Amino acid sequence: MPENAPTRVLVTGGGGQLAACLRKTQPQQIEVTYAAREVIDLTSAESLRAALREKPFGFIVNAAAYTKVDLAEKEKSAAFAVNEQAVKNLAEICTELGIYLIHVSTDFVFHGGFNRPIDEAQTPNPIGVYAESKAAGEKALLNSAAHATIVRTAWLYSEFNANFMKTMLRLGKEKPRLTVIADQHGSPTYAADLASALWKMIDNLRGKEKPAGVSIYHFANYGVTTWYDFAKSILELAAVQTHIEPILTHEYPVATPRPAYSALWPRKFAHDFGFEIREWREALSEAIAAYKNLEGDKK
Ligand SMILES: NC(=O)c1ccc[n+]([C@@H]2O[C@H](COP(=O)([O-])OP(=O)(O)OC[C@H]3O[C@@H](n4cnc5c(N)ncnc54)[C@H](OP(=O)(O)O)[C@@H]3O)[C@@H](O)[C@H]2O)c1
Repeated sequence: MPENAPTRVLVTGGGGQLAACLRKTQPQQIEVTYAAREVIDLTSAESLRAALREKPFGFIVNAAAYTKVDLAEKEKSAAFAVNEQAVKNLAEICTELGIYLIHVSTDFVFHGGFNRPIDEAQTPNPIGVYAESKAAGEKALLNSAAHATIVRTAWLYSEFNANFMKTMLRLGKEKPRLTVIADQHGSPTYAADLASALWKMIDNLRGKEKPAGVSIYHFANYGVTTWYDFAKSILELAAVQTHIEPILTHEYPVATPRPAYSALWPRKFAHDFGFEIREWREALSEAIAAYKNLEGDKK
């Protein structure tokens, strides 16, 4: 590719939350195609090949995933089709065409046995169909010949799509009393911070010889909290008045068990890509402001 050729990036899962944040933070010098499921259905290798025949891409960011954690217990094959088989297809096609793949994965691949922020040296021990399918996707990529990076992230929220922050804001306005789980610990991460971090990573890699093999990075906002404290902070920052009470995991039964501790340690990402990572509360206050702006615009 000539040195001054534009960097072309394909983002799969173009209708999702992370894709919306990639769009919001997209640098000018990069040409990006956002492909929603209707344009590229990743469960069809042919649909992906057809899109790649049209234009050469230097990078693919795989922001597509089956993300319905509880429903996955009933839809195992659908979850594995997107979270494992599609990643295998992507890896093969990227290897064939010399495209660098950035694949997004989850803190939920870690389940049990952790009590401090988890670094990249730890071995996944997923429980539940969603977590197992995401771990299987990572494995498929690690066993491929692709040049790629797996970026594990956690507890994503933003002003876009459906997420915990928006659910709390809605429920906080609708209900006089909320109960939220206080014995699960993790790293709330503003999806716009993850998006900026991914652009920084691409900026570091473009125009250079890409590292061979598959590397793993953790990306989350710094800090560890519980869903309860996260919810309290959301409501306080948005000045939503409601009564909020902590409960324990067993008081809120769900189809898939969630990890008691899955906070990620993102220092390697910060160090290797020169990206300054914010503490989660600082990022949250920006997300609340962005949410209010967006809601204001809709009125
Ligand atoms: N959200 C979190 O809290 C969280 C936490 C840790 C890691 N992650 C990871 O972060 C990544 C981005 O998550 P997100 O929050 O942006 O999720 P999201 O909002 O659910 O976006 C995922 C997108 O993938 C699309 N998709 C599903 N099946 C597809 C297929 N066969 N072909 C093409 N696209 C398909 C979905 O389309 P439809 O809407 O049409 O299904 C959706 O637009 C995922 O890898 C997820 O596992 C998320």
